Amino acid sequence: MGIGSDMYRQQILDHYKNPRNYGELDDPTFSHVGENPSCGDTIKMDVALADDGETIERVVFSGDGCAISQASASMLTSKLQGTTLAELEAMDRDDVVDMLGVDISPMRIKCAVLAEKVVQDGAKIYEGELDVETTKTEE
Ligand code: FES
Repeated sequence: MGIGSDMYRQQILDHYKNPRNYGELDDPTFSHVGENPSCGDTIKMDVALADDGETIERVVFSGDGCAISQASASMLTSKLQGTTLAELEAMDRDDVVDMLGVDISPMRIKCAVLAEKVVQDGAKIYEGELDVETTKTEE
């Protein structure tokens, strides 16, 4: 492990200890909850869209989980402010792994992608493309 990944680990720890955008919105455009079935941890994402119905004006998360899942949610919510639903839907797990900047073991990938999957499914439900009550991360 080089200095680069140390820096990323510090950043993960910082986002875990001081999560950005943690909380709930009073009047979200949509909310969605998801679970990592391997541990039972859940994350809820609340999204408020701008008047154009496409731009993410505010996105926050709440829930419990390990350092990777919480840091991933914190970083993702920071990255998503001001992006569009189309940009959100175009993201994949590689974007999350790149964002975290560390090697993620197959065991922990569900932790890493939980927030992304929840907010993406929330957007799909909002757009009428998906009908699920709770998202579960699969391998
Ligand atoms: Fe539960 Fe990582 S161990 S989300």
